[in-house]
Amino acid sequence: MKILVVGSGAREHALCWAISASPLCDHLYCAPGNAGIANVAECIAVKAEDVDRIVAFAKENAIDFVVVGPEAPLVAGLVDKLDEAGIKAFGPSAAAAQLEGSKAFTKGICDRHNIPTAAYARFTDLEAAKDYVTKMGAPIVVKADGLAAGKGVTVAQTVNDAISALEDALSGGAFGAAGEEVVIEECLIGEEASFFALCDGKTALPLATAQDHKAVGDGDTGPNTGGMGAYSPAPVMDDAMVQRVMKEIVQPTVDGMAAEGMPFKGVLFAGLMITKDGPKLIEHNVRFGDPECEALMMRLMSDILPALIASADGQLDQITLRWRPESALCVVLASKGYPNSYEKGTLIAELAPDSDTVTTFHAGTARTDKGVLLATGGRVLVVTALGESVTAAQIRAYETVKAIKWSNGFHRNDIGWRAVARESANPTK
Ligand code: AMP
Ligand code: GLY
Repeated sequence: MKILVVGSGAREHALCWAISASPLCDHLYCAPGNAGIANVAECIAVKAEDVDRIVAFAKENAIDFVVVGPEAPLVAGLVDKLDEAGIKAFGPSAAAAQLEGSKAFTKGICDRHNIPTAAYARFTDLEAAKDYVTKMGAPIVVKADGLAAGKGVTVAQTVNDAISALEDALSGGAFGAAGEEVVIEECLIGEEASFFALCDGKTALPLATAQDHKAVGDGDTGPNTGGMGAYSPAPVMDDAMVQRVMKEIVQPTVDGMAAEGMPFKGVLFAGLMITKDGPKLIEHNVRFGDPECEALMMRLMSDILPALIASADGQLDQITLRWRPESALCVVLASKGYPNSYEKGTLIAELAPDSDTVTTFHAGTARTDKGVLLATGGRVLVVTALGESVTAAQIRAYETVKAIKWSNGFHRNDIGWRAVARESANPTK
């Protein structure tokens, strides 16, 4: 088969790495890819958001199957357009991608299908929103309705912070059209987890569990990022909790979307808060998490391609996936300054070699004509290691991080700390 992966992050590198190992894959393209992806796929100079050019490329090159990594082309209808062109693809339609594209849409699905989530209200009017926040008090969460590249959420510890977030979105235009409506939510207290299930419109197949670290600094401090590291499995997601999440959140979402005429296909990524009252949905995403995907791909033993194709074909009930019993942990190396402004084009003098237990996935990297490796993005490299425990995977990942020579890079030093603390309290795991 000729396969095209769409995207340019470490998530897409991990997907390309897994797909290129499939005996079903004869030729792998990636649009646009990066310097690491170029080792396992042929990169083509078409941006992930350039939906029309991707469809044209897929037609001209007789692509058999397209795997869409990021949310933007999904929300823009890439899978619908590929479908019209007769090309099979992994990912939801634009209608189903509203689960990520609009927080208000997802809240509506939760209301109509009894899915546990934070209490909320929606506003377009600044004064009404301010009155609501003042009445409810802090802590409280303010979210821009639309896609805001992970930056549209403020967990406000004071009413004043909440009011400035409202002003930024509703009158300051900080998120453009994505912030013309806001969702104000009850602040949930508990431990967060990322839950992934492949879906085919009716069947949902749970993947391994994972947890990421969104804050930029050690101890989960500082502003939120796309994710500075992750690990799998997540101890908080034991078998009983997985079953509850499938029954109370994932399957009702899949059934609800089908009942409303927008069957969900692709990967459903439920961002959860495990509260004292049970799991609650923080948000749905319609793609793999990054860097959670990198940890999952390291643990996946089965061929991923038949599972992705079965999602598109509505045949996931025929798929079983096997996972390595080991843990995986990944550490993100980012450009100094990220998630705010940072220098682009800095030199990565040396990478660490990959092995059976460690892989460095690339995000924002490019090679010059002379073969020099440069950092071109905020998140740049994702070192992903396997180990007998999260603690062992953490040690191996940081040894590899130390061997990388990139003076403009930084990373967190405590990825996996919750699981490591649990393991040291309970050494038999
Ligand atoms: P989101 O973009 O919706 O995933 O939100 C980003 C982060 O904000 C989440 O990963 C949580 O850490 C936090 N967050 C969002 N909604 C809530 C909530 N209702 N209660 C507590 N924390 C939240
Ligand atoms: N790591 C969280 C995300 O991909 O949104």
